[in-house]
Amino acid sequence: MNVKVQFITAPAVFDDYRAPLSAALEEVGLAGELAMDHDPSTVEYLVYAPQNDAVDLSPYGNAKAALGLWAGVETIISNPTLTMPYARMVDEGLTEGMVEWVTGHVLRHHLGMDADICRTDGKWDKHVPPLARDRRVGVLGLGELGAACARTLVALNFDVAGWSRRSKEIEGVACFAGPAGLDAVLDRSEILVLLLPHTPATEKVLNADTLARLPEGAVILNPGRGALIDDDALLAALDAGRVTHATLDTFRVEPLPQDHRFWQHARVTVTPHIASETRASTAARVIAENIRRGEAGEPLLHLVDRVAGY
Ligand SMILES: NC(=O)c1ccc[n+]([C@@H]2O[C@H](COP(=O)([O-])OP(=O)(O)OC[C@H]3O[C@@H](n4cnc5c(N)ncnc54)[C@H](OP(=O)(O)O)[C@@H]3O)[C@@H](O)[C@H]2O)c1
Repeated sequence: MNVKVQFITAPAVFDDYRAPLSAALEEVGLAGELAMDHDPSTVEYLVYAPQNDAVDLSPYGNAKAALGLWAGVETIISNPTLTMPYARMVDEGLTEGMVEWVTGHVLRHHLGMDADICRTDGKWDKHVPPLARDRRVGVLGLGELGAACARTLVALNFDVAGWSRRSKEIEGVACFAGPAGLDAVLDRSEILVLLLPHTPATEKVLNADTLARLPEGAVILNPGRGALIDDDALLAALDAGRVTHATLDTFRVEPLPQDHRFWQHARVTVTPHIASETRASTAARVIAENIRRGEAGEPLLHLVDRVAGY
């Protein structure tokens, strides 16, 4: 019997996934009937990356699970018609992409690369950066992505601390949790990386008070979510030079409006939500494994905790 899999995605996403997901299902001993137009009452699994947040999922009440293509879930779990279990995407391609983006931007700021790359004044201006071992980096969020980034930064010899909701142990990383833990990480972070999900508890986690705790001249990287930052407080800290640079990949409103001050600010780098993408070649295997688990009556991977909100 073929497993009926309905794509609730853009048509181009269906096109990208059709061949790799069929192959990945075959690898786990299943045959899939993949479509965008199944009779909703017959659908067993949803592959989910909606083009808008208000998709009515009530016709798919017989589906065993919805399998998301995105790591972030805040816009998805707020849909009241999403009554079936929801598994988000944890994908090695997504993780590798994020590690590369974070490492690249940490190194840019650590080495002060802009001074040379942007130089046109002909000045032989030597600036020797400290070694990574003497650079303190903080990572807020030590989940799939934050922990992978923290480990890579440790491998490069950075002095890394991280913060999560529950206590953690990651070799080489000074791990903190809870409100007092946040202060401890902020106090020491010359470069701060935000890899938290957006939940009511993390909304504006970087605000005037928390920004004031950072060492003078700190740099902020935000590939997490725009809503983690109070934009006005960040702009004030940048204007004052207390924060010397913010490299932002995520924003409260996306695309970032053309008249937003972030575009023009000399101390801001905007990247257009490209820190990391789900890759069909690797993500299809994650979807197939979860369908296999569903069919075998085994617990699904990466189920979202709707109370915690991530
Ligand atoms: N820009 C991009 O291209 C892009 C791509 C993918 C993902 N993202 C963003 O990256 C985020 C993180 O992804 P992920 O896969 O690493 O998520 P994850 O595995 O769910 O990890 C989330 C981390 O945040 C911590 N956390 C959550 N709420 C907290 C709180 N109130 N206080 C302290 N720590 C808290 C969690 O703590 P515990 O460990 O204690 O649970 C966990 O360590 C996503 O939610 C998404 O917003 C961005």
